[in-house]
Amino acid sequence: MSAVSTGSSSRPLVVTGVHLADGTGTDLAIVDGRFVEVSDAPSDAERIDAGGLIALPGLVDLHAHLREPGREDAETVESGTRAAARGGYTAVFAMPNLTPTTDTAEAAQYVADLGRRDGSCEVVPIGAVTKGREGHELAELGLMAATGVRVFSDDGACVSDSLLMRRALTYLKPYDGVVAQHAQDPRLAGPGACAHESEISGRLGLGGWPTVAESTIIARDVMLAEFTGGRYHACHLSTAESVDVIRWAKKRGINVTAEVTPHHLLLDTPHVETYDTTFKVNPPLRTSEHLEAVREALADGTIDIVGTDHAPHAVQDKDHPFDVALPGMLGLEQALAVVKELMVDTGRMDWATLVERMSATPARIGRLAHQGRPIAVGEPANLVLVDPTRRATVDKNTSASRSRNNPYHGRELPDPVELTVWAGRITYRR
Ligand code: DOR
Ligand code: ZN
Repeated sequence: MSAVSTGSSSRPLVVTGVHLADGTGTDLAIVDGRFVEVSDAPSDAERIDAGGLIALPGLVDLHAHLREPGREDAETVESGTRAAARGGYTAVFAMPNLTPTTDTAEAAQYVADLGRRDGSCEVVPIGAVTKGREGHELAELGLMAATGVRVFSDDGACVSDSLLMRRALTYLKPYDGVVAQHAQDPRLAGPGACAHESEISGRLGLGGWPTVAESTIIARDVMLAEFTGGRYHACHLSTAESVDVIRWAKKRGINVTAEVTPHHLLLDTPHVETYDTTFKVNPPLRTSEHLEAVREALADGTIDIVGTDHAPHAVQDKDHPFDVALPGMLGLEQALAVVKELMVDTGRMDWATLVERMSATPARIGRLAHQGRPIAVGEPANLVLVDPTRRATVDKNTSASRSRNNPYHGRELPDPVELTVWAGRITYRR
């Protein structure tokens, strides 16, 4: 049995009057989980008038924390994928920092099974690189790959041992697997590191993470990727120096991809001045020059994708002094809103490029062949309908997530998602 799930289909659907990402106006029909010619839709199909809306392929998140098994008080596959569907996603890759860790084929199967049972979108397990994500010994990479796992990460922890990184890149080559690195060298962390090392961290008395803790790991890793010929993905880029390294590596022809989160695009270091632990995250929120660098890199393709790093935490894990609270913030429900606001509405990116960054390329990196596909007859019916004008004030209390660590609470943002369809089934409707 495969560890990769596909959705079930349901009632035929006809959507009229939409525009596609390239601006083309069209009607869409969906039967048995696929787009069909409108003339082939049965007369009893549900009809949706979508005049003024934009139809995009369902979004794909290569980086989400769903917390099940282990921390069902913070999130479950049911609640996390409902948040995903509200955000326009039809597939999420589930990071392995669970209890137990997703470091065996059985554990990966279990996460995929939860997705099939409870998912409002496809759930694809990510396997750990090392046993227990402890950074000492490689996990069962081949056995996990044999069940369909293609993405491997110790996310939450950095694979800081160079030899383990070399071996992981080498061993995964025959499986076409990718190592997704959480680049944050623990040796470069200041005492109690929990904020960007800067004038602000000094003034607040918070331990600092210097930018080089990230960029030096990525620099080492891209050289190991070149040396081994393995496939490497840098998670949640947060610094201008990391962007420079990725730009250099790509120019050199190294097989690397990179990701940025919505929060590292939008939120800067001064948010921590209130000591509000909602804004504690790894890597930390950076200063405006770094935000500008990652925005530019996302626009020009140096950064390939947006990954949410949706990281739900229970109140009791956030309600602590800043240095003690757990790091992480929600992302699935507002990711599209943030990228639209910063990149599309400012003219830095068109809708077609957004589809590349949030659907097609994450699916390709994760080797998920049936997701991130164009909206076209014969293709799987994964779709999000977007209202390009609607805005709203984010309210953390209306979230589908079980957690409330929403960094956008109280902020006015686009509120674009009208309807999400996964494999022909409506998974969210406003
Ligand atoms: O802030 C973070 N939270 N960064 C990570 O890499 C892990 C995540 C989590 O699991 O909470
Ligand atoms: Zn993460």
